Amino acid sequence: MRFDVFTIFPGMFSGPLSESILRRAQERGLVSVHLHNIRDWTTDKHRSVDDEPYGGGAGMVMMAPPIVHAVEDVLGAELHTTPVILLTPSGERFTQDIARELAQFPRLALICGRYEGIDDRVRIILNARELSIGDYVLTGGELAAAVIIDVVARLIPGVIDPESLAEESYSSGLLEYPQYTRPPVFRGLAVPSVLLSGNHAKIAEWRRQQALCRTKARRPDLLQRANLTPRDWKLLAECPPDPFAHPEMAERTES
Ligand code: ADE
Repeated sequence: MRFDVFTIFPGMFSGPLSESILRRAQERGLVSVHLHNIRDWTTDKHRSVDDEPYGGGAGMVMMAPPIVHAVEDVLGAELHTTPVILLTPSGERFTQDIARELAQFPRLALICGRYEGIDDRVRIILNARELSIGDYVLTGGELAAAVIIDVVARLIPGVIDPESLAEESYSSGLLEYPQYTRPPVFRGLAVPSVLLSGNHAKIAEWRRQQALCRTKARRPDLLQRANLTPRDWKLLAECPPDPFAHPEMAERTES
């Protein structure tokens, strides 16, 4: 999968792309990220990418010509088959479903906005899809584009362990159950005993209940959309209190 990123701050991507899973995915040829500096498509001596908004108002607006020329030059004939994404806080909310949709394409173009926004003709001319990564305002679209690259790249076959993806689809739409590893007791807090029992059916049921009950407590909106079985509803009706919510309620042992 190839990502073409259009930005005035290409340096903002070096950290996220040069570590861990994304780095390995690039080394193994599964993912490539091409950074394009929009300033390279300016024509004036100051290499301007922004100007004052028509109609007045605070801040500056990114001009259409350098962005449109950059994307057209880089994508060429593939412009018609490549999704062009524009990162903006006023876009449609980016979700795992959208990530799965985008991961089907061999190539994606990501345009990072700065200042007060981008001349709306960019969206129209490039048939761009506007996406927001959440209801908050970043200083620009670069971090949002890095998030999209990260989320989409891990869905590409071979980038991560297929078992992890399989577990995600099993728990589809629910928050994750809590995880523990050694030591069995830390600062007086014991790992829930069922996880040490070796009883795989009981462990699976405990995890399902934890995922359901956490989702109910933290993201009740997600429960509406999850496909729950009658057994799930029973587990939900019997949610245990969070043993670690208050130290005095925790399962304590000597250590
Ligand atoms: N640019 C600024 N804030 C953003 C957000 N939340 N999502 C995408 N792009 C942005």
